[in-house]
Amino acid sequence: MERLTPVHCNGCMNEILVLGGTGKTGRRIVHRLQSAGFPVRVGSRTAPIPFDWTDRATWTPALNGIETVYVSYYPDLAVPDAPDAIGAFTTAAVNAGVSRLVLLSGRGEDEAATCERIVQGAGIDWTVLRCSWFNQNFSEDYLLDAVLAGEVALPVDDVPEPFVDAEDIADVAVAALTQDGHTGQVYELTGPRLLTFADAVAEIAAATGRPVTFVRVPPQDYAAALPPEVAELLMYLFTTVLDGRNAHVTGDVRRVLGREPRDFADYAKATADVW
Ligand SMILES: NC(=O)c1ccc[n+]([C@@H]2O[C@H](COP(=O)([O-])OP(=O)(O)OC[C@H]3O[C@@H](n4cnc5c(N)ncnc54)[C@H](OP(=O)(O)O)[C@@H]3O)[C@@H](O)[C@H]2O)c1
Repeated sequence: MERLTPVHCNGCMNEILVLGGTGKTGRRIVHRLQSAGFPVRVGSRTAPIPFDWTDRATWTPALNGIETVYVSYYPDLAVPDAPDAIGAFTTAAVNAGVSRLVLLSGRGEDEAATCERIVQGAGIDWTVLRCSWFNQNFSEDYLLDAVLAGEVALPVDDVPEPFVDAEDIADVAVAALTQDGHTGQVYELTGPRLLTFADAVAEIAAATGRPVTFVRVPPQDYAAALPPEVAELLMYLFTTVLDGRNAHVTGDVRRVLGREPRDFADYAKATADVW
C-alpha cells in the first residue's frame, strides 16, 4: 500500500472518527491510522467520547471537530432499522461538517443497498466497502465457540463464499479514509478464492491439527437453538443471502492495494493459536 502521510487537512489534522473502533474491522483501522500519525477518535459505547447507535444524543458530541468517518453499523446493515439509523447519522454528520464517509457494507443485502444509497446521496465524499463474509467471524465473533467446541453446525449447503480478511478491509478502509482517488467508488471486497463453509472449517482443522468438523443442520433446528435477539438476522444471512448470489471473487482488493488479498489458509495458519 502507498505510504500514508497525514496531510489530509492542511495542517489542522482533524480527527478521523472510526465507528465500531473496537470491533473486527474498526480496531485494525484505528491501529493503522494511529501508527501512521493520524489523530483518531474511537466511536463505540465504551470510548472516552461515547457513541451509541441506540442513543442519538451521543452522535453530535462524537462528531464534533470530525472531518472523516468510517461508518461501521451495529449490529448489521441488514437489519430493518439500519436505513433509518444510517439516514439520521448521515444527516447529523453533514450538519457537523463532515466531508467524507467510508461505509462498511455487505453484499447482496437489500437493506445494506438502501444504506449505501443514503450515503451516496449525502452530497459529500463517499466510498463504499461492500464486503463478503469476514474470515474473522470464525475467530473473533459468533462462530468462535463452535470452532473451539470442534463442530460448526450451520443451515448452509455447499454454497461457495469468497471469505475476505479483516486485515485487507482495514488496509482498503485506511486508503479510502486518508488518500484521494477513492471518492465515489464502490469496492466489492472479497478474498482470492471461493470456499464453502465445509471447506473453511477443513482449513481451520488443518491449521490447528485438531478435529473440527462442519455439519449441515436443518434451518428450523438452527433457528430454534439461536438466542431470539440474533435469530432473525442470522437466519436471513445464512438462508436468504447465502444462496449463491455472492459466489464470485472480485479484484478490488488488488485494485486498491496493488497486492493479492489474504488467502483463508494463511488466515487460518496465523490464527491457529486462538483455536
Ligand atoms: N461479519 C461479516 O461477515 C460482515 C460482512 C459484511 C459486512 N459486515 C458489516 O460489518 C459491520 C460490523 O463491523 P465489524 O464486524 O467490524 O464490527 P464488530 O466486530 O461487530 O464490532 C462491533 C463494534 O460496534 C460497537 N458497538 C456495539 N454496539 C454498539 C452500539 N449500540 N452503538 C455503537 N457501537 C456499538 C462495539 O464497541 P462497544 O461494544 O465498545 O460499543 C464494536 O466496536 C456490520 O454493519 C455488518 O453489516 C459484516
